[in-house]
Amino acid sequence: MSLMPVLFVLMVTGSVSAGDLTGNWVVRAPQEDGTARRTYLNLKQEGSRITGSIRLTQFFYTIKESTGGPDGFVLTATMLDGKNERRVVYEGKQVGDELKLSTRRRPSDAPTEMVAVRAPPGEGALPARLPPPALHRIPDNGLVKTPPMGWNSWNKFHGRVDDAAVRGIADAMVSSGMKDVGYLYVNIDDTWEGERDGKGNIQSNRKFPDMKALADYVHGKGLKIGIYSSPGPNTCAGYEGSYGHEEQDARTFAAWGIDYLKYDWCGARTLYADDQMQAIYQKMGDALRATGRPIVYSLCQYGREEVWKWGPEVGGNLWRTTGDIGDRWESMAKIGFGQDELAPWARPGHWNDPDMLEIGNGGMTDTECKTHMSLWSVLAAPLIAGNDLRTMTPATREILTNREVIAIDQDKDGKQGKRRWKSGDREVWVRQLAGGAHAVGLFNLSTEEARIAVKWTDLGLETPKQIRDLWTHQNVKGTGPELAATVPGHGVVLLRASR
Ligand code: GLA
Repeated sequence: MSLMPVLFVLMVTGSVSAGDLTGNWVVRAPQEDGTARRTYLNLKQEGSRITGSIRLTQFFYTIKESTGGPDGFVLTATMLDGKNERRVVYEGKQVGDELKLSTRRRPSDAPTEMVAVRAPPGEGALPARLPPPALHRIPDNGLVKTPPMGWNSWNKFHGRVDDAAVRGIADAMVSSGMKDVGYLYVNIDDTWEGERDGKGNIQSNRKFPDMKALADYVHGKGLKIGIYSSPGPNTCAGYEGSYGHEEQDARTFAAWGIDYLKYDWCGARTLYADDQMQAIYQKMGDALRATGRPIVYSLCQYGREEVWKWGPEVGGNLWRTTGDIGDRWESMAKIGFGQDELAPWARPGHWNDPDMLEIGNGGMTDTECKTHMSLWSVLAAPLIAGNDLRTMTPATREILTNREVIAIDQDKDGKQGKRRWKSGDREVWVRQLAGGAHAVGLFNLSTEEARIAVKWTDLGLETPKQIRDLWTHQNVKGTGPELAATVPGHGVVLLRASR
């Protein structure tokens, strides 16, 4: 913020004379994958007043303030994103037929410089807003009776995922033993998308030369394959979304052999308000169903609009409950330990999704990763690994493939665990399992080792006959009325207690 007054002074000292900014301008930034990122500035200049819009990948901003003119201007533009207002500032000046522009994410960031050229009128305009359909209930697709398990490219690869990486991951999922313990879906996240062909069919970009062949390869390993799209015209990373092509894209995905779709809100916010999400997600739910192919439907809208209440009605099998996870203890812990109230909404075929695993990505210790794995299992959360399976350490592999912990996650009753006891940084979570057993997680959120001692009755449980430690793989001796353990900092003791 502190830079703005200085910039303002610099910009208005030039005289407002030559040129007219009115018109449609585009910045084209070609990507290695053959696609281009485009920013459109649709400007109208009247004297020293500039109005109009700025469309940048999945964002559409309306210009709210302007100063200067062709010789030097500053545009401030805003958009509503759910309940939040987003804001961008572009500084620029016209040089010949070009606009030299710069913008910053935050006032303290170094500016990003770019050059806009004139674009034909209408190019890059937002498509017309199609009215959301009336609500109805989509029948259950019968899939993922236990939380889905697999891998997703985003956490580790972001935009660098390609055909070779996905094949390598599928190979590693088998050779590492992950497939044997239940990991099944190999999911390609954002940045696979290319342009549409003349008939409007979505195509993959250069990184994925043949999606059908890739799906065949993954299927050949006995695995399933997932893909990603958005209900908006653009995805979060600014690639082509499914807006207005929902049925066509669902048919394309089915024809490729896709088994799982993550559908990410981002780009839809340019056209719809949050309270229209249910109808918009229903559209793709219907489209997937119409293909006749069993496709897991993963809703990704960051837990807005109490999605857990309507996710199943739009055909959703899982729904994100929060914003994006980061590869840090603080992020994982904030998300994971914040899921307590959502427990009633999880059930076979329909899961709360506190986001994909960060285990093995380097930002957390092995102790913290065990906590991550344990907590997600107590939460009946999808276990979607997010690391590079081709190069993971033995410790990471052991954490991800702990069969006893996975058995908790995959318990057939599908009941999500809850926090049953808390004292300062120490928490005990309990998950009720099929056949009357319970998973009990003793979590130490502080950085120092701590002793956790609780009475079984404090947890609402009877003294069990048998207790098993799911990380040491030992039965625990002595089952008195109290449960006590020493837990490392940021660590867990995960038990299975049975009567
Ligand atoms: C959003 C989602 C992430 C990921 C990215 C891809 O941020 O929440 O999980 O899919 O988009 O652009």
